[in-house]
Amino acid sequence: MKSTLWWGSGLHSLLLAVVTSALTIPEINGPSFLSPYSGESVSNVTGIVTAKSEDGIYIRAPRPDNDVRTSNSIYVYSSTVGTNLTVGDLIVLGGEVQEYRSSDDYLYLTEIGSPSDVRVISSGNDVESLVIGHDTLTPPIIQYTSLDDGDVFGVPNAQSRISEENPELQPDRYGLDFWESLSGELVKVQGPNAVSRPNQYGDTWVIGDWQVRGRNLRGSLTIRNKDANPEAIIIGSPLDGSSNPDDTKLGDKLEDITGVLTYAFGFYRILPLTSLNVTSSAQPAQPPATSLESDGTCARVTFAQYNVENLTPDSDHMSGVADHIANFLKNPDVIFLQEVQDNDGATDDGVVDANATLSALSEAIASAGNVTYAYVDIDPENDEDGGEPGGNIRNAYLYNPDHIRLRDPNPGGPDDATEVLPGARLSYNPGRIAPADDAWEDSRKPIVAVFETVTGGHHFFAVNAHFASKGGSSSLHGDPRPPVNGGVDQRTRQARVTGQFIADILAERPRAAVVAAGDFNEFAFVEPMETLRSVSGMRDLDEVAGIAEKERYTYLYDMNSQELDHVYLSHYLAQQSPKFEHIHLNTWVSYDDQVSDHDPSVGRLNICGLA
Ligand SMILES: *[C@@H]1O[C@H](CO)[C@@H](O)[C@H](O)[C@H]1NC(C)=O
Ligand SMILES: *[C@@H]1O[C@H](CO)[C@@H](O)[C@H](O)[C@H]1NC(C)=O
Ligand SMILES: *[C@@H]1O[C@H](CO)[C@@H](O)[C@H](O)[C@H]1NC(C)=O
Ligand SMILES: *[C@@H]1O[C@H](CO)[C@@H](O)[C@H](O)[C@H]1NC(C)=O
Ligand SMILES: *[C@@H]1O[C@H](CO)[C@@H](O)[C@H](O)[C@H]1NC(C)=O
Repeated sequence: MKSTLWWGSGLHSLLLAVVTSALTIPEINGPSFLSPYSGESVSNVTGIVTAKSEDGIYIRAPRPDNDVRTSNSIYVYSSTVGTNLTVGDLIVLGGEVQEYRSSDDYLYLTEIGSPSDVRVISSGNDVESLVIGHDTLTPPIIQYTSLDDGDVFGVPNAQSRISEENPELQPDRYGLDFWESLSGELVKVQGPNAVSRPNQYGDTWVIGDWQVRGRNLRGSLTIRNKDANPEAIIIGSPLDGSSNPDDTKLGDKLEDITGVLTYAFGFYRILPLTSLNVTSSAQPAQPPATSLESDGTCARVTFAQYNVENLTPDSDHMSGVADHIANFLKNPDVIFLQEVQDNDGATDDGVVDANATLSALSEAIASAGNVTYAYVDIDPENDEDGGEPGGNIRNAYLYNPDHIRLRDPNPGGPDDATEVLPGARLSYNPGRIAPADDAWEDSRKPIVAVFETVTGGHHFFAVNAHFASKGGSSSLHGDPRPPVNGGVDQRTRQARVTGQFIADILAERPRAAVVAAGDFNEFAFVEPMETLRSVSGMRDLDEVAGIAEKERYTYLYDMNSQELDHVYLSHYLAQQSPKFEHIHLNTWVSYDDQVSDHDPSVGRLNICGLA
């Protein structure tokens, strides 16, 4: 038995040695993610040099094989192979077929390593780029891979791996399959638009003149239910050693981009021959101020939701936040803030009080506008609520004391759980929701408060939340499928606890006015937020106010404009024609000009029926 096997595999390698002598590039790539020849030596591979980099060359088969699954090009990895070669040279070479990745959570790049016996057959051959969407299929617009089972946000995550399943490519249906089918190709993006701002390396996500889905008025792509925009591609470092601009803005138009398609750092990417150039920017540069203003009555109570990104008394962005609140959010009656740090910021010395931070913000707003805000928060236990070590970020409220006040204040401490008492009174006002519940381990506890209008005493419940972060997520172009959505289980537990608290209020008083707002670190259509809605019975203000789905974004991440910040209203409040606006003060400007990493939103409520 043993010897049969031995002879069998011996014969196989003998055959392989013969067969592999004249492999074409598309045969080496094969119709799946991984090369069928991975680990094998190949010789006499023929290709035309289409591009050179510091670390290798890109070669294309002289005759395409007309199979959309198998790329006709491949990367040859070697810092010396290109020394005597010129783009347009027809060469033959030998080498070893390799699958390379720098992290287990990435996909593999197929390449030929250790090139040998490189011979130039002829020079000056034509090298044309393939125009994406014209000379190729058009990039798929919804699904990433067959392994996502129809929902890239599906829970549980990481149920399979592309590197293990190695599915046959369906480049007409799945985005990753499409980009993989062009691995190593020289391609062109016609009519590109930036759908992100550059990262620290100048890498910029773009779409071309192909069909896209989810395009918002600014020209970028908004993430939607089951659709995380596989039609976008990131442009990496230029092959000529130049640098991409670092001040590209969302929706900027760019010059056509020619470069090679590869995979690195967790994403399919195009390495352009030379740096990107912006030709024009979306206008206006800044959004207009909100149209939703308070008149100090119960009929027009305004509020804002704003994650102010690790605000301290000394923050450089303090005056920017104040300018936003006074001049663009028009001094809302109540402001739900997240990421307010303690009085000495990230210094980890036991200080938890944030009154200097909040006073400084109040003063800055007063000097930018006319309102001197009062504030309320609850200091957390030191280093128990996550975020930057020592910063003790917490959620807080600012309120305009000319219009609004706390109803019967009775503040709770960090460990006091406020309870819903008969008549929908709270045992602490303000108070934290179930601070001892392990859903909040190393995470911000929501702060609940009951506010009322100074005139008439019309009241509403406010729930200010900042759910656990998405840290630990894997890339949308990564190996685990569906991608790892870091913290999703904790956020679902947080949603259940928060939702139950709201349900308790509504059980006591079905017509209560409840506003839950915050940075939930999750999309509206993913399990945690669906849990919050179903457990609480609250309604998503984006839907109630009729904000177009594509305009629902407050944050930029990778290729996606997305909404991590949400507002939910109780049924009664949702029936009183509430208004809502996302003010894109931070997503529209260059990275250096942003004040926070989130956009603020403004809403307006009628609470007159609620004495
Ligand atoms: C490679 O090609 C050369 C000349 O084109 C030929 O002499 C040689 O036998 C080929 N090698 C293999 C392993 O087929
Ligand atoms: C390039 O050509 C020169 C001159 O023929 C030769 O000395 C050198 O070894 C070649 N380099 C490579 C990497 O083939
Ligand atoms: C961008 O501009 C530079 C300088 O004018 C030029 O060298 C480069 O080719 C341009 N890049 C593109 C993609 O047009
Ligand atoms: C903060 O609170 C402390 C203790 O109550 C008080 O001494 C200090 O003046 C307050 N600081 C500000 C800026 O309100
Ligand atoms: C300040 O108040 C005056 C008078 O009410 C008003 O005209 C002006 O627009 C206000 N400015 C701001 C920034 O709110």
